[in-house]
Amino acid sequence: MNVIAKPDALTSQVVRHVDKSFDWDAFPSNRGYAELARAQMRYIGAGGSPKVGEPGTIPPQHFTLSLIHKPVGNYAACHAHEIEESFLIIAGVLVVGWERDGEVCEVKLGPKDMILNARDVGHGFRNDGIEPVLMSISVDVGKPLPPRYLYHPKLGTDPALARSFGAAPGRTIPFDPHGDHPLQQAMARNVIRHVEAPAIREAAGFQRRVYVGPGGVESDTCRKEMWGIPVGCAVKPHARPVEEALMVLEGNLVVGWEEDGVAVEKELGPRDLVFHPAGRPHWFRNAGIGPCTAWCVVGEAGGETVRFEAA
Ligand SMILES: [Fe+2]
Repeated sequence: MNVIAKPDALTSQVVRHVDKSFDWDAFPSNRGYAELARAQMRYIGAGGSPKVGEPGTIPPQHFTLSLIHKPVGNYAACHAHEIEESFLIIAGVLVVGWERDGEVCEVKLGPKDMILNARDVGHGFRNDGIEPVLMSISVDVGKPLPPRYLYHPKLGTDPALARSFGAAPGRTIPFDPHGDHPLQQAMARNVIRHVEAPAIREAAGFQRRVYVGPGGVESDTCRKEMWGIPVGCAVKPHARPVEEALMVLEGNLVVGWEEDGVAVEKELGPRDLVFHPAGRPHWFRNAGIGPCTAWCVVGEAGGETVRFEAA
């Protein structure tokens, strides 16, 4: 096959970070509350924002994917969803709280750490750090319902109580995987620390750390993994029965498709994303001079079905 570089179907499924803009008005319920301000950049679907169908954003199937920027000192009011939602930290340190009956368990998450917010569990987040937080949020359904706010200044919640996600003084519990409080135990099942997640070494020459799926957080919706792809690693064409998204976090990655018997390739840099539709044969290789780290979201639960082969 020849590799060509003309406008193609792959181009329409690559979202470049520099082609997107952060939206400071993505969440109408935050309007008028400076301490709740955050910015969203939509890659796949609209997530929890009502701004669906935006040009340049890929229509969602089984999940959405966006970036969220949270300034120092700001928080997101405690709310719940009908579906699971993951926060993957890219930069900074984020405090995430889970609330139940006026008690809140808080965890601090750093770069490449993730929490899968369980269905119908009240959750909020806050940036108590010294740098903005950048994270990738995926909701595990194409078009989620609007969030149900549990503690929000607009509901008349006291501002201090809203900032602590609904915990009155003395009712905040620290995250502890060995703690015996039900909230601690529930949260511990849904937090993945990057450095603690086991690395699966693929014979094709890269490694996968399962965040959501068998070996990681249990889920019946989507699988989410962190891939480490060394320089020179190349994987043969493969396809899935569902969609897959890859967002590069570090390094560069060449991704390719077969289109009518012709090979088409694009190189992705940090915070660029490719969306592989169901059934589309695709491949990747690291043609750069440093390792690539990529966040992978697959639109089905269960274990990996692809047999990766070195190219
Ligand atoms: Fe949420």
